[in-house]
This record gives sequence, structure tokens and C-alpha cells, in this order.
Amino acid sequence: MILAKENKVKNSIIAALFTIFLMLILSIASILNKTDRSFFQSDANIEERDKIKIGFSLGTLKEERWIKDRDILIAKAREFGADIIVQNANNDDQDQMKQVRYLLEQNIDVLIIVPNDLNKAAHAVELAKRQGIPVISYDRLVLNSNVDLYVTFDNVKVGELMAERITDSMKGENLLIVNGAKTDNNTKMIKQGYDKILGPLEAEGKIKIIAEEWAADWLKEYAFKVVDDILQKGIRIDAVISGNDSLAEGVIEALSEHRLAGKVSVTGQDADLTACQRIVEGMQLMTVYKPIEKLAEAAVEMAVRLVKKEPLNVQDYINDGTYEVKYYVLTPIAVDKENIDETIIRDGFHLEDEVYRH
Ligand code: BGC
Repeated sequence: MILAKENKVKNSIIAALFTIFLMLILSIASILNKTDRSFFQSDANIEERDKIKIGFSLGTLKEERWIKDRDILIAKAREFGADIIVQNANNDDQDQMKQVRYLLEQNIDVLIIVPNDLNKAAHAVELAKRQGIPVISYDRLVLNSNVDLYVTFDNVKVGELMAERITDSMKGENLLIVNGAKTDNNTKMIKQGYDKILGPLEAEGKIKIIAEEWAADWLKEYAFKVVDDILQKGIRIDAVISGNDSLAEGVIEALSEHRLAGKVSVTGQDADLTACQRIVEGMQLMTVYKPIEKLAEAAVEMAVRLVKKEPLNVQDYINDGTYEVKYYVLTPIAVDKENIDETIIRDGFHLEDEVYRH
């Protein structure tokens, strides 16, 4: 009887000790677990906070080149360990403004902007700058806004290359000019470039500019209409300077309706795939090739430097109408049938099979 009671006491002591031991183990485990989680969590937060966030506001994605710009910028941002948020305004100024506001609400560290409108976008730049966010004008300059940097291809040179090649090829004297949008500062710079070459030739009577037009939003339908109207009136066109490959497409479509495609020299820019195909097929004289990868890489690298407040090492400046702004400028390349293999195809900008439609 006494032995049984003693055993019972012993058992309950063992059970109590075991429970205490178990509770101890569980609480130690829970403390460790909590510490661990909070340790990892704060690590992740630090990592999140350290990651630079780039806002990329595009005025348009209509032309093939902008898709390339977007994709390469995303890839380059990743390489630089940065996050990037992309917005496309579809040629709408108010939407671009709203989208920049949205990007700023997302706490971006730097804004890269391709303005839809050279003047109106100044408001978006001002908004970013007021919040201490540096701004890069990408490919197109925002006027009177004192951006931290303008990265681009030399647009004056683009115009020069077009004029040099077209005047070399002209058999007759009638030249038509179809510019891009007036709301794009590049249109003005391109004009500055071709005027330099065309001015003296026009003065000497070697060429005659039969018309000069501007296509709102760079719409190829407008280019089609311009050419069609002139041809309907019975006016001869010997050559067309068109502001980009999309406009060139409209021009060539109209020429082909009048059975003139391939007989009239046409310029372009961007090295769109369809333009490259037209060049090797003899429908378009030339395009201006702008290796986008270099531009996108420079933009991301400079964006990161601006956030880190590191020097940009950019020596050139350009006047934006009010301020002298830092100007990082790359060289565009004239491409025709003769050099397409050693430029566009060699660089892998387009595949040989695609260009030659093998
Ligand atoms: C760019 C061209 C582009 C055009 C239409 C210009 O500002 O320089 O490459 O084709 O805009 O989007």
C-alpha cells in the first residue's frame, strides 16, 4: 500500500518535471524562431530599402524602337540590381502627367522620362524635382525644365545623315519633307541637321523643296495622305525625307499605290525591321540606326549614379530653352543596302533571316 503510494508520488513528480522540461523546450524554440524571423525580416527590409527604384515614363510605345528601349531598360536595371516601374502614356500628355504622379507615389528614387510633349512634360519634371527626385530626359528633351541629364543620340546628326544620303541619290530636283511631331524637340533638331545640308543646295538651285509637313504623333497615316495628295495633283516627287521609319512606311505605301515605290528615294530612322526589309528589297533608300542598347545602358547607369550622388562624368551641355543641362550624346549611323550586314545584322539588332526574309 505504502509502496504503491510512493510510486504514485514518484510518477507525478516525473510527469511534472517532464511537463516543465517540455514547456521549457517549447518556449526556447519559440524565442529562437521569433528572433530568427525578425532577423531575416529586417534583413529583407534593409535589402528592399537599398534597392534603387527607377520610374520610367514613356510618351509612347507605338514605334518598334520603344519596345526595345523598354525591354532593354528593364534588363539593364536588373543587371544594376535596381527595380524599375514602367508606364506608357500612349501619346496622351495628361496621362503622362498622371503616370508620373503615380510613379512618385511609388517612392521612386529617380525618374527617366521620354516626354510626349516637349513643353508640357516640364510640369512632370517640376513635380519630381520638388520631391528631390532626379530626372533624366531619355532620347527626347523636356524643354525649360532643368533636367539632371539628357541622354540621347545626336538628333542634329540624324538630320544631316538623312540629307547627305538623299541628296547624293537624287536624280530629279523635287524633294518632299515629312517631319515628325512638332511636339517633339527631336523633330526640330533633325530639321536643324538637314537644313544645314539642304540650304546651300537649294540656294544653288540644285534641289527644290516642294512641300514640308509635320505629322502629329508621328502618324504614318498622315505621311500617306501628304504623298497621296501631292501625287493626285500631278506633282512629281523625286525624293522624300521622312522623319522616321514609320512615316517612311506611310510614304512608301502611298508611292506604291501610284506604282512609284522603289523609284523615289525615301529616308527614315530607327532601323525598324520592316524598314530594313524595305532597304534590302530596294523600296527605301536608308534608315538611321541608333543602337538602343548603348542608350538604355547609359540611362540606367547614370540613373544609379544620380541616386547615389556620384559624379556623372558628362562634359557636354545643351540649352533646354532656359537652362544648360548635362548632355550625354551617342552617334547615330546611316544604314543602307551597302552596310546593313556590318551594322544592324552584325550587332544582332535584327537577324539576317528576318531582314532578308529567308
Ligand atoms: C525618336 C524616334 C522615334 C520618334 C517617334 C523620336 O523622338 O527619336 O526614334 O521614331 O520619336 O516615336
